[in-house]
Amino acid sequence: MYILGIETSCDETGIAIYSAIHGLIANQLYSQIELHKHYGGVVPELASRDHIRKIIPLIKKVLEESQLKLTDIQGIAYTNGPGLISALMIGAMVGRSLAYALDIPAIAINHMEGHLLSPMLESHYSPVFPFVALLISGGHTQLVAANSIGNYKLLGESIDDAIGETFDKIAKLLGLSYPGGSILSSIAKKGIPGKYKFPKPMIKHSGLNFSFSGLKTFVANLIHKSVLDEQKRADIARAFEDTIVDILTIKCQRALDQTGLNRLVVAGGVSANTTIRLQLKNFMKKRGGTVYYTRPEFCTDNGAMIAYAGLMRIQQQYGSSINTNNNIAMTTVQPRWNIEELE
Ligand code: KG4
Ligand code: ZN
Repeated sequence: MYILGIETSCDETGIAIYSAIHGLIANQLYSQIELHKHYGGVVPELASRDHIRKIIPLIKKVLEESQLKLTDIQGIAYTNGPGLISALMIGAMVGRSLAYALDIPAIAINHMEGHLLSPMLESHYSPVFPFVALLISGGHTQLVAANSIGNYKLLGESIDDAIGETFDKIAKLLGLSYPGGSILSSIAKKGIPGKYKFPKPMIKHSGLNFSFSGLKTFVANLIHKSVLDEQKRADIARAFEDTIVDILTIKCQRALDQTGLNRLVVAGGVSANTTIRLQLKNFMKKRGGTVYYTRPEFCTDNGAMIAYAGLMRIQQQYGSSINTNNNIAMTTVQPRWNIEELE
């Protein structure tokens, strides 16, 4: 069985084909970073216009790459939310229209479930249920107890800014280019550890929610008061990243203790961060547990994770998100769609 995956929730057009037998056989990604760089953030109208331009050529490319014909595809999985409404609409309309024309199922995928399942894309080092998932992306910071496909319990989430958004804002204040998360991380490597001490909001609270706005304001005030040179930038970046790592480690520890689980999946764009990966790996090793990541290219948004989630859904015969009728007029994307609402 071949599933075509379509991801258009934000500023990446991701298209992939996942085979039930051979795994990922084609993967194409077009990033709109250059388009939005000028504005310092994603402009929704520009994002959706660019998805329109890129989506069909990329579908053609994955067919070429896999040497398949459109009629070989047996299901189309598309991101139905959460994300930018106008961007989601493009993937949903193209995906559902194609499925209608081909008379195959269209599967509405929750973007965060796509991230959560992404470490399973590669079968040689794949987590088994149940596990705790730390989902860290541009728009979300969540701890989830994942019991089986579709059975997720939200343990905690950010009550204000998302972690990736915070990385990007601090990077911008440090004068780094957009989106600054990964650049901030690379300059942090030259920073002197312990040069600054930043607050760790919500750490004393016993719960599993996160808060990053206080940390962001504290670092922003420090930057405004400082005369920045290369070393100072690196020291601030280092202190910021170390603070984030401590917050994530403490919250993961609590989530694992609370659920009695010892497998941790870390996914979403920020999970490409090498410092976070290393620290959480060491932490899990000390606990006698295991941490799972996907390759950096599948941490950020991509079509492969959506195609994979679609295959899992079809194999589970999950009713409500699979539309075999393919009534295209019924398309409703869900810009806000809690992972707990899946079945
Ligand atoms: O998952 P993703 O591609 O999009 C959303 O679903 O939001 O995540 C994008 C976020 C951006 O904020 C980006 O700066 C951040 O992931 N990111 C990183 C790194 N690579 C990407 N943040 C910190 N360190 C990185 N190496
Ligand atoms: Zn994402």
